[in-house]
Amino acid sequence: MTNRKILVFGRMGQLGWELRHKLACLGQVIAVEYPEVDFSKPDAIRNAVRTAAPAVIVNAAAYTAVDKAETEAELAGAINGAAPGVLAEEARRQGSILVHYSTDYVFDGAKQGPYVETDAPHPLNVYGKTKLAGDEAIQAVGGETLILRTSWVYGARGNNFLLTMLRLAKERPELRIVDDQTGAPTSSECVAQATAGILAQLLAPQGGGLQGRSGIYNLTSAGETTWFGFAKALLTQSAEAPGKTAPILIPIKTSEFPRPAKRPANSRLSCQRVEETFGVRMPHWEEALSLVLETLAERVSPGSGNA
Ligand SMILES: NC(=O)c1ccc[n+]([C@@H]2O[C@H](COP(=O)([O-])OP(=O)(O)OC[C@H]3O[C@@H](n4cnc5c(N)ncnc54)[C@H](OP(=O)(O)O)[C@@H]3O)[C@@H](O)[C@H]2O)c1
Repeated sequence: MTNRKILVFGRMGQLGWELRHKLACLGQVIAVEYPEVDFSKPDAIRNAVRTAAPAVIVNAAAYTAVDKAETEAELAGAINGAAPGVLAEEARRQGSILVHYSTDYVFDGAKQGPYVETDAPHPLNVYGKTKLAGDEAIQAVGGETLILRTSWVYGARGNNFLLTMLRLAKERPELRIVDDQTGAPTSSECVAQATAGILAQLLAPQGGGLQGRSGIYNLTSAGETTWFGFAKALLTQSAEAPGKTAPILIPIKTSEFPRPAKRPANSRLSCQRVEETFGVRMPHWEEALSLVLETLAERVSPGSGNA
């Protein structure tokens, strides 16, 4: 029986919460949260890693308030840009594997077609710039590191588009949703499950760690849609509020919904590299959406799906 430790940062975030559940069969999960460990304090990070002495560090902590980051660049930079570099140094120091998450927002969205890992980043907003700085800090340190780039993360809990839409659908007769940004809504559960699958390979007795496979891997749902398409699908599929009149959905342009941070028009990421390297199969976004909605429905009416 192995007593290997897996240190997860961002315990109560969307992804961190799922990771705690999915990684439990790979080792003893030690999950920490802000303010227990504050990522704007490098010594606190070092101390947490040295105390736990984990075989694997999984970092799901981040400054994710995309619009607020425009006016909190320093704090966002400390959490998203500098802290991952400290984690990489600590991981290297004690021979741990580091798994970190990055974002489609490192790109400007001008490319025709899905982005691959080698495409040059060019973030449009402060959040994207700080996340890119984090990716670069990890790569500058080296060691056994995986940077998993995902997009449009949502799930059955946390702050996300799906839960916001379900709430607004109950409150408003009409919803205006951006229809000119394209990407792949990706469930936090699928990202955590894929992370567990990759780690299971690396930690297996004959697995031997990353062995030259360190680097960036895109990890999103398959397929693509717009925020409008996602809203339409989730409200159509949702079993919530039976009998209630569904709101009218109106597609709008990004320019009609001005926000402090610019967003890329194209957020599509190719996942060919992670599929070929680790055999990961990410579900189509509609397939994953059904599963998340099923989880939510089960919460409302437990056991309703049982024979
Ligand atoms: N959400 C998306 O659409 C999306 C898209 C692409 C990539 N990603 C990336 O995926 C990863 C996980 O995102 P998520 O959606 O799970 O984010 P999330 O739900 O916002 O969770 C972020 C976590 O970081 C913690 N945190 C915030 N400030 C901190 C600090 N100063 N020190 C330590 N921890 C702090 C938060 O704690 P509190 O709750 O206490 O603030 C929270 O637990 C991140 O790297 C993010 O950049 C997310």
